[in-house]
Amino acid sequence: MTAIPTKNGSQNAAKAAKADEFYTQWADIEREMNAYLEFNRDVFRDKVVLLPCDDPEWSNFTKFFALHFTDLGLRTLISTSYAPDSNPAKANYHPTLFEINSPHFDPTKTHTNGKLLTLHREDINGDGVVDIDDLRWRYLDGDGDFRSAEVSAQRDEADIIITNPPFSLFRNFMTWLVGGNKPFSIIGNSNAVTYVETFPLIKNNQLWKGATANSTDMVFAVPKGAPIKEADRLKAERLGYPSSGDYDFTRLGNSCWFTNIDHGRRHKPLQLMTMAENIKFSRHKDVRGLGYRRYCNFAEAIEVPYVDAIPSDFNGLMGVPITYLDKHNPDQFEIVAHADDMEAMRQIGVEPLGADFVGKYKEQGGTGSNSPGHRKLGLTAPRYYVPFKRILIRRRTGAS
Ligand SMILES: C[S@@+](CC[C@H](N)C(=O)[O-])C[C@H]1O[C@@H](n2cnc3c(N)ncnc32)[C@H](O)[C@@H]1O
Repeated sequence: MTAIPTKNGSQNAAKAAKADEFYTQWADIEREMNAYLEFNRDVFRDKVVLLPCDDPEWSNFTKFFALHFTDLGLRTLISTSYAPDSNPAKANYHPTLFEINSPHFDPTKTHTNGKLLTLHREDINGDGVVDIDDLRWRYLDGDGDFRSAEVSAQRDEADIIITNPPFSLFRNFMTWLVGGNKPFSIIGNSNAVTYVETFPLIKNNQLWKGATANSTDMVFAVPKGAPIKEADRLKAERLGYPSSGDYDFTRLGNSCWFTNIDHGRRHKPLQLMTMAENIKFSRHKDVRGLGYRRYCNFAEAIEVPYVDAIPSDFNGLMGVPITYLDKHNPDQFEIVAHADDMEAMRQIGVEPLGADFVGKYKEQGGTGSNSPGHRKLGLTAPRYYVPFKRILIRRRTGAS
């Protein structure tokens, strides 16, 4: 039976969909793609690049790859978009003049169908270069949902997939992407590192953080009137993105790239001090002169509260903040588990938190959802607590 949409239901859907309308800026795309090119200048050569979940008429992804089509040596560029009628955020959609003036224009399909843009090694307008002006487009048969058979077929034909997918469908998108078994680079939220769809891949070296935008702001354009915080709008403005007639701009401090395309940053070893040097010289007062605490329910691992305080000469397990993944070099450290995964904690021998621990944690003002029996890494000093989102790593044998 089909549910009848309630007013609140459709308002919520529109709200969630609006939160997906974050448009990537050229500079962010350029910085990240340049990092892949610095590592391998032929990374895009002779490749079919697919940009799903895009808006081919104006997306910076489409513009970037179309304008660099020749110098990157692309074979084909394909970009697909999602139908306005399937997207509650596009309630006030109007086709552009580009589309209306095209012989392919269809007043119904413009609302109900996705679009597909292609650029081949074909100088259609005969101006001597293959670029954005040689793009061709058509309506897709369906609405352009990335999960559709039609767009999945494009994924299967492509060599590389690049986009900023809808934030609310990140997990589904990652599953779809991994199903294609292709090189990819996508934007997501850095908290997604611990998702079941991503962490096993990160652990197995099949997925990693991008080379750029880690722990720095990324600016996004949003449709006019989208609910954004004034402080973020002002910050985006200070970063060089004032509101325009078409868009407002906002910034996100926790967005990042997820990729399986190699880049130089992940081969650069983290420069670290030994444990003795950290104890003597660390800039962190909770390490300097004090050393490293062991978890009360897993004494074989030490807690390392800062990435720059990881000791270079400790061979056991270390609990480090998830921001470590921004700097992870797979030749230097092995990723063992993330500490929010209680089953993984059981497997490596973490004891459950006891009633005594949880009682003291609550007495001392702890409000997290920690209960007796939870296998989470516990510390008893300087107070009873479970450190936030730790990843357990181990130094590779022979790594400096
Ligand atoms: C975060 S925005 C990014 C747009 C563009 N790729 C960019 O980076 O500027 C995600 C886009 O995915 C589209 N979208 C939402 N749901 C989708 C779906 N199920 N399948 C395909 N695209 C979808 C939205 O219309 C939105 O424009």
